[in-house]
Amino acid sequence: MDADNKTYDGNLSAHMCAEIDRWAAKFPEGKQRSALIGSLLAAQHENNGFLNDELMTAVADYLDLPVVQVYEVATFYSMFETKPVGRHSISVCTNISCMLNGCDRIVDHLERKLGIKTGESTADGKFYLKQEEECLAACDGAPMMMIDHVYYENLTVQEVDSILDGLE
Ligand code: FES
Repeated sequence: MDADNKTYDGNLSAHMCAEIDRWAAKFPEGKQRSALIGSLLAAQHENNGFLNDELMTAVADYLDLPVVQVYEVATFYSMFETKPVGRHSISVCTNISCMLNGCDRIVDHLERKLGIKTGESTADGKFYLKQEEECLAACDGAPMMMIDHVYYENLTVQEVDSILDGLE
């Protein structure tokens, strides 16, 4: 795919096109749908952590895919956001091991500390507390949370405070 030969609505930067090309090159000709997850992650990363309609349409156009296929992926996987969110994304695992080890206490503490409910972002745009997350495959470190793709395990509320206080 040649970025220069495409007409876009202005949302896809040269870097983003290069990233999409890199993902598409990993799959056989005509299987560019397989590059969607990587492409959307790159797009989301460049767009302050979320995908909007315009951006999803631009990615669909670039990959020559129906827009609905992009929407299906963007709305199915929990790592994609389709609305503006806070800059630090916090996911607390609430699946069985974490539940048995006190994740409710962690969620309650975060909601109180940040003054928001899960699914919301703080007014200053610093934090986004994602909806409850399914098992993040760190069950032996329960209770755990992920912030900006980094895992924090065997949490206490004191540790949650120090982790959040350490973020810019
Ligand atoms: S149940 Fe929480 S990481 Fe598996």
